[in-house]
Amino acid sequence: MAETRKNDVLLEVKDLKVHFQMNEGLLKAVDGVDLTVREGRTLGIVGESGCGKSVTNQALIGIVPHPGVVTGQILLHKKRGVALEKPIDIVKLPRNGKEIRSIRGGDIGMIFQEPMKAFSPVHTIANQLCEGIMLHVEPNKKKAWDIALHALEQVGVNNPRQRMNEYPHQLSGGMRQRAMIAMALSCNPAILIADEPTTALDVTMQAQVLKLMNDLKREFNSAVIFITHDLGVIAEMSDDVAVMYLGRVVEYTDVDTLFHNPKHPYTIALLQSIPSVTRKAKSELEVIEGTVPYPMNMKPGCGFYSRCKKRVDGLCNVQDVPLVDIGNGHKVRCMLDEARRP
Ligand SMILES: Nc1ncnc2c1ncn2[C@@H]1O[C@H](COP(=O)(O)OP(=O)(O)OP(=O)(O)O)[C@@H](O)[C@H]1O
Ligand SMILES: [Mg+2]
Repeated sequence: MAETRKNDVLLEVKDLKVHFQMNEGLLKAVDGVDLTVREGRTLGIVGESGCGKSVTNQALIGIVPHPGVVTGQILLHKKRGVALEKPIDIVKLPRNGKEIRSIRGGDIGMIFQEPMKAFSPVHTIANQLCEGIMLHVEPNKKKAWDIALHALEQVGVNNPRQRMNEYPHQLSGGMRQRAMIAMALSCNPAILIADEPTTALDVTMQAQVLKLMNDLKREFNSAVIFITHDLGVIAEMSDDVAVMYLGRVVEYTDVDTLFHNPKHPYTIALLQSIPSVTRKAKSELEVIEGTVPYPMNMKPGCGFYSRCKKRVDGLCNVQDVPLVDIGNGHKVRCMLDEARRP
């Protein structure tokens, strides 16, 4: 990963934490995440269910629900392509103030994992798409309407003209997902966050949506944060990859290094668990035993300890493990890594 390029950095996330005080204890959904989002590049975020992918990205657009407490820094370095003298720290912005509302949708667009989160049930699809387009791209109502219709056509919504006048609940799940993708893409955001954007789509539509995102990235030199469970999609879409486990990044590097020289036992286990048509014997497919623990009242040490085949008692379960750069920006959070062996 090129650490030296500085002026293409759009967003920097530093020591981001999102904690929820629950009756049973403190739930650390995100616990010290660092990420760098660069122009024209796709950052893939991968990890099993519950590792904090969605909550991390909710923080980026200031929509972490109550009682979530967000700390750390989310520094926006450019607004509408223009470098800011002083970066804006999104963590510090009032939740529904003017500034965050202009960033949300305009500078940072989001395709949500659950489409109903993006839509209001009481307004038509046209109203909701046009509202964003008029705020961020084209103030003229008629032109905004045309952009919205074109966006629906692009993502394969059937009968787009009729859909414009319908309410979100009148659309099927797949069509709603497409309408939401259209809503995010139509504002040409500098950073597009796509949270599992293609899970409800069939394979051909999936390919078209991924292509659309790549076209947007190329045309506007925008950045994409792509969240998925699917390492195949990560391989195809990403330039850089952050592997998350239990609210933390455990490995962070460029996509080639991740697939050819993975270091963290969790990344290695994830890679070994991908079914492949070229894999010779079924027995080569590994399963990661157990599930991601609930991030509450956690003991010190590596979060992956309980499931790691290489764990060493007295080394890995004693203290929190830092994320260490092992060269060329390849970062790993593991006590066993050679470079860190005491
Ligand atoms: N609003 C909330 N209140 C309390 N806990 C939450 C809330 N949202 C998420 N969590 C918890 O935070 C942790 C991370 O959740 P998150 O939704 O970010 O996971 P994820 O990586 O996106 O998983 P998935 O792949 O299933 O979408 C989980 O343990 C989840 O139960
Ligand atoms: Mg999620």
